[in-house]
Amino acid sequence: MSITPWWRSAVVYEAYIRSFADGNGDGLGDIPGLRSRLPYLADVGVDAIWITPWYPSPMADAGYDVADYRSIDPRFGTLAEARALLTDAHDLGIRVLLDIVPNHTSDQHPWFVAAVRAGRGSPERARYLFREGRGRGGSRPPNNWVSVFGGSAWTRVRERDGKPGEWYLHLFAPEQPDLDWSQPDVRTDFETTLRFWFDLGLDGFRIDVAHSLIKAGGLPDIPADMQDGVSGRPAGHPHWDRDEVHDLYRRWRSIGNSYDEPRIFVAEAWVDEPERLARYVRRDELHTAFNFEFLQTAWLAPPLRNTIERTLTEHARVGAPPTWVLSNHDVVRSVSRYAREQTGDRMIFLENLLGKPADATLGLRRARAAALLMLALPGGAYIYQGEELGLQEVEDLPTEALTDPTWERSGRTRRGRDGCRVPLPWDGDRPPYGFGAGPGHPWLPQPDTWAEHTVAAQRDQPDSTLSLYREALRIRHLHPALGDGSLRWLPAPDGALAFAREPRFRCYVNVSAAPLALPVKSTVLLASGPLDAARMLPPDTAVWVDQAA
Ligand code: NOJ
Repeated sequence: MSITPWWRSAVVYEAYIRSFADGNGDGLGDIPGLRSRLPYLADVGVDAIWITPWYPSPMADAGYDVADYRSIDPRFGTLAEARALLTDAHDLGIRVLLDIVPNHTSDQHPWFVAAVRAGRGSPERARYLFREGRGRGGSRPPNNWVSVFGGSAWTRVRERDGKPGEWYLHLFAPEQPDLDWSQPDVRTDFETTLRFWFDLGLDGFRIDVAHSLIKAGGLPDIPADMQDGVSGRPAGHPHWDRDEVHDLYRRWRSIGNSYDEPRIFVAEAWVDEPERLARYVRRDELHTAFNFEFLQTAWLAPPLRNTIERTLTEHARVGAPPTWVLSNHDVVRSVSRYAREQTGDRMIFLENLLGKPADATLGLRRARAAALLMLALPGGAYIYQGEELGLQEVEDLPTEALTDPTWERSGRTRRGRDGCRVPLPWDGDRPPYGFGAGPGHPWLPQPDTWAEHTVAAQRDQPDSTLSLYREALRIRHLHPALGDGSLRWLPAPDGALAFAREPRFRCYVNVSAAPLALPVKSTVLLASGPLDAARMLPPDTAVWVDQAA
């Protein structure tokens, strides 16, 4: 009998370390805080956690600017504490993934410091993408690429003679210079980093912007029809989703496979076409890749079904399980997205939502239904911390509290992602809600209205969102139909989705239809909201039932 590898069905919890739990009371989440809350995660029932970057960093982009890949920022803890965390998590049956950030380093990384100092044409500069500028005196950037956070993707350095010199590429903030992955020592050094953490007991990595490492030779201008910021549409973009990136991941897979218990990877690759995404999870490449199409799909039955079908088809073609995700630390929380009218417009950033009327109760109903839909689909799923508490985006953070580089780089027009990163509420009725024991204020202010959302307030409430997630994960572990596998669509009225997974499992989602009668001979396992006395499924509600074929 073959045993299905754990990662094909895993529910992974994203622990955004800065905001999860603060062990030393300085206002910033850390490893001791995370460690102390592992029993909570075991109780929720997750299979694994993904920890966002804990490396030494000047924090220009909340830790995604890494100054040393084989060490830990003292604000987050020590290597000994990381080891203890791995041991404790494993003892609780929880696997641990960590972020790796290979597209760029921090500008404080010794390689970049040396590159600036060493000057034009040096081997130190060859690890990054330094180029001469265009125009008179090289005063214009080498090409038209733009930073994801706003503005040009190029910054000019001063050479040792004090004069303006070469420009370097940064697809994100200027403090995040892009590496040149055609350099052998860049490749070798990252392989050493992978092994360093794997040897320590880490179970896998989430690869940051996995689709951006390789740039087109000659760094050509981006054609006008491809200027869309983050994604790789259409194929052939000079820096997103280049075909050559796949060789790299074949190599990484072989490193993961060299361990007795193979180590795994999940790709963060924002590509628009399910077919392009599936290329990252071909049999000899990465294990899984986030399906961002799903979190960008409006709460409307036809596009939801279309996204699910296309994802299933393309993943089946390469033999990989899909990875469903409703939120993460880069996008507006699902409750707040679903609180808006669902028009099909892109709604993942705050600027897409502000000014649109919100109905928070409706948003929560939909988010709960979406959770049951996601957790019933074939494959694995990621839960972003606070999703299990039904937290909303904090849309009105005072501007002086904003830390996301997007805010300044967009000329203060885009508030950025801080609103989904506000520290978690654990207990109590006022900030810091048990986030940290000490006098330090949480690094982002928490709303006064979160008392009813704390873990303590929800833990023993059978109808709380926390109870819904816990019960869903409990059923998911026990039910032989759930996790890896396939589904069969069932007839459903317009505005609803229905599918079967064998043996005996049915999921009905009323997205926007009239109340839906459940089959007579079925037993409700779990519902995202109350059914009425006649067992009718109201709109914005999902249900799992047991039903003979
Ligand atoms: C994706 C990460 O999730 C995001 O937070 C970060 O800003 C960028 N990559 C750049 O590293």
